Amino acid sequence: MNITVTQGDLTEQSAAALIVNHFEGLQSPGGATRALDAKLNGAVRALIASGDFKGKLGETAVLYPHGETLSTRAILVGLGRSDEFSLDKARQAAGAAASRAVALGCRSMATVVHGAGRGGLDAQAAARVVAEGTELGAYQFNEYKSKGDSKILANVSLVELDESKIEAMQTGAREGEAIGECANFARDLVNQPPNICTPSYMAAKAEQIAAAFGLTCKALDMPAMRELGMGAFLGVAQGSSESPKFIILEYWPGATAMSDQAPIVLVGKGVTFDTGGYSLKTAADMPEMKSDMSGAAAVMGAVRAAAMLNIPRPVIGLAPTAENMVSGGSYRPSDVLTALNGKTIEIANTDAEGRLLLADALAYAKRYNPEAVIDMATLTGAAMIALGRGGAAAVFSDNERLVQRILAAGEVSGERVWPLPLYPDYRDWMNSDVADLKNSAGDRYAGAGVSAAFLKEFAEGYPWAHIDIAPMAFAVKGQMVKPYGPAGATGFGVRLVAALLREWES
Ligand code: BES
Ligand code: MN
Ligand code: ZN
Repeated sequence: MNITVTQGDLTEQSAAALIVNHFEGLQSPGGATRALDAKLNGAVRALIASGDFKGKLGETAVLYPHGETLSTRAILVGLGRSDEFSLDKARQAAGAAASRAVALGCRSMATVVHGAGRGGLDAQAAARVVAEGTELGAYQFNEYKSKGDSKILANVSLVELDESKIEAMQTGAREGEAIGECANFARDLVNQPPNICTPSYMAAKAEQIAAAFGLTCKALDMPAMRELGMGAFLGVAQGSSESPKFIILEYWPGATAMSDQAPIVLVGKGVTFDTGGYSLKTAADMPEMKSDMSGAAAVMGAVRAAAMLNIPRPVIGLAPTAENMVSGGSYRPSDVLTALNGKTIEIANTDAEGRLLLADALAYAKRYNPEAVIDMATLTGAAMIALGRGGAAAVFSDNERLVQRILAAGEVSGERVWPLPLYPDYRDWMNSDVADLKNSAGDRYAGAGVSAAFLKEFAEGYPWAHIDIAPMAFAVKGQMVKPYGPAGATGFGVRLVAALLREWES
């Protein structure tokens, strides 16, 4: 998508759709909506007066100006109540308008920057969220539809009358476009079927973005991992005929920046398909497990975003990728594995595989002397039970400052996170008779916290936080309908981390 900022009168633009907005509860429209209403001889007022359009957040209505404007359509989008308005509401409204434009087959649209009017939001921030929301809302995944509709929203212009805001809006639009694009990159990876999106496919995608954005990339294969001693990761991978890849994607800022600073290391769970292994999942639970590499996808998208946003600090992405399959070579319950940091793990449940990949990746992270390590993983169904599908991701950390940073980034990005406790007791629940610890406590209680306590055993020597994104990674039709396009992958984590990195030095 090509997003530009144009100085001028929205109603004079030529596009497949003009986007204007309206606050819930207001009788008479303002700004560009008022100007459009004047051109349409009161049609917008009449629509509002009819009560058919209330202005609820994300509500849309379409008008057809038939000659009074150069544009074929006008889409009116609701902003919700003015006293509840925020940057995130502007982002959601932009997403809803873009989704509607895509559904109507529009190839171009011209939109107001929601909320940027007099006394409103900061111009740069408003343009950022409108560009970001537009990217997200226009997202589609049609690759495998042979009769796929090719309705692509290709050109978007953000239109602003006030000359003095244009420069700030251009900066904001570029940021928002980059962030939205990186989230959509992650969504594409997750939406790919698991027979296509294998560990090798993910490694190839990492190489691709490295070449395109000036990153360095390495993908360790099985012999290299064996050499290092990544026994936990390899235990999971051994049941699959797909070779595992340990993807290392590095962003080092330019010479003038703070490249001598300690990096932020991101770690993402990359299980390209999780059958559960011999502790097999049910038929009903299995299909969604193509999304079990959402953490790895988010990490790749976030490193891509760091490069596009010119973040001044180095950012390292580690993505252990493997399939959790059933075969004659698979690991079994009762096996004992030795992780990279030397700790031994008794396998209580082969379906608790994500923590085994992460254990070795977290131990590997130490060699960077990181400023902080943050992992993202679709780690437990228990996190989803606790917080709900689309509710929030769960964050676990002993580092209060890091938790505060992540919560603040959640606010800024609109990607919700909520802290859950990391009690030392949870660790004791995984005591093993034969090894240093077991990979599961054996019952369902506090499953998310127990998994975090497991990871903590391997996240030694740096500030660390774990984000269980299972509740947020994959939107199921009817259960979690976001303003940001179709069911399926959400790209959760990319925008959260982008916000975290942008605000890190402040
Ligand atoms: N990938 C799953 C967690 C998951 C479940 C993510 C549903 C998204 C939706 C993970 O590997 C898993 O199977 N976790 C088990 C852990 C248990 C065996 C200790 C779980 O949550 O039941
Ligand atoms: Mn599992
Ligand atoms: Zn899993």
